[in-house]
Amino acid sequence: MSHPHYRFSRLLVGLGIATASWVAQAQAVDVAAAEKLLTDSKCTKCHSVDKQKDGPSYKKTAAKYKGKADGETKLVTHLTTSPMVEIDGVKEEHSKVKSSDEAAVKNLARYILSR
Ligand code: HEC
Repeated sequence: MSHPHYRFSRLLVGLGIATASWVAQAQAVDVAAAEKLLTDSKCTKCHSVDKQKDGPSYKKTAAKYKGKADGETKLVTHLTTSPMVEIDGVKEEHSKVKSSDEAAVKNLARYILSR
């Protein structure tokens, strides 16, 4: 016969695992969907994962927002509101991501933040 405390701690461990996998699922990145959206939106012209092009690499952006709770929101805003950016001294509107699906844009932001 198992001791009641033993059974209770087994329950807690079980709950902990369930919560951890739920959190992991909530933050999981669909890499293929993000990369397709980057290609479809022609982001690849100015950005790559690890090379500086006209725009910063996604690694550099990930480092900039590392540990900041509002990183995802900032990126979603950047990608949906065409803020002015400067390329070789010339100001132009940053291109918008070619998707009106909020979940797809958030997935892309998480993809960038997890490089
Ligand atoms: C014509 C070139 C160009 C294209 C196309 C372009 N970007 Fe950018 N992007 C830039 C430049 C330049 C910056 C730097 C802005 C700054 O730091 O002021 C930038 C900045 C960024 C940042 C960093 C934002 C931040 O808050 O630090 C991200 C992320 C980004 N772009 C993603 C994208 C995505 C995703 C696309 C496709 C929808 C895209 N860019 C298309 C040039 C471009």
